[in-house]
Amino acid sequence: MNEEFSQDEKNGFYKAVFSRRDVRSHFMPEPIDDKTLSKILNAAHHAPSVGFSQPWNFILIKDVETRKKVKESFDDERKRSATLVEDPKRTKYLSLRLEGILSSAVNVCVTYDPTKFGPFVIGRSSIPETGIYSVCCAIQNLWLAARTEGIGLGWVSILSNDDLKKILEIPEHVVPIAYLCLGHVSEFAEKPDLETVGWLPRLDLKDVVFYEKWNSLDDPTWNQIRQMIVSNLDYA
Ligand SMILES: Cc1cc2nc3c(=O)[nH]c(=O)nc-3n(C[C@H](O)[C@H](O)[C@H](O)COP(=O)(O)O)c2cc1C
Repeated sequence: MNEEFSQDEKNGFYKAVFSRRDVRSHFMPEPIDDKTLSKILNAAHHAPSVGFSQPWNFILIKDVETRKKVKESFDDERKRSATLVEDPKRTKYLSLRLEGILSSAVNVCVTYDPTKFGPFVIGRSSIPETGIYSVCCAIQNLWLAARTEGIGLGWVSILSNDDLKKILEIPEHVVPIAYLCLGHVSEFAEKPDLETVGWLPRLDLKDVVFYEKWNSLDDPTWNQIRQMIVSNLDYA
């Protein structure tokens, strides 16, 4: 199967990439149909993984009581993290909407199980974190597939993993990697919420691409692409 993508297919892919958003405040109450949710999960399950270890599991959560407990953990952690920043940032931080735990249709906890196919996993012995990187690849597939299906997704990391493990009865050796809120949305914002409220700007691509070595922003061998990147090429 080495077919090229048609121009329409390429456009579809980039549309998903550029219009994907982290959604917290635009969830609608209607449920996600099971076929759509299973397609999204199947896309996640086809992510790359170190040594093909597929170290993920997806815990699907609808129960309101469970979600209320997770929301309590969020409230506690948010209060705790607010003490780490000074005013006026603190007040701004506390005014941000940073979760959709109860307002979304479904929550999904994505976990990492280092014992799957273990202990020897090809490629994981030098950099053990590659197991977690693999789970993050699955999460990104899930996020893009959700966007493609018109489903919004918000990642909530202001949570205690200890709380999550207790609430969801996750075994000791398994690590919660992401707590995701999914649902239909009234809109996908054009820009990240944190950009819109002036929390942080998007960096320029030209400032994050180095040539040949760390921090080298200029190298004659890379002149052409560098010009394109610097001149903010219209990628459409
Ligand atoms: C690892 C990770 C953790 C995140 N945790 C939170 C969170 O706790 N609450 C929240 O509102 N957004 C969270 N986000 C979403 C980011 O704030 C968001 O991706 C970023 O602002 C860029 O916006 P965009 O995803 O709409 O492009 C998280 C994203 C990632 C990748």
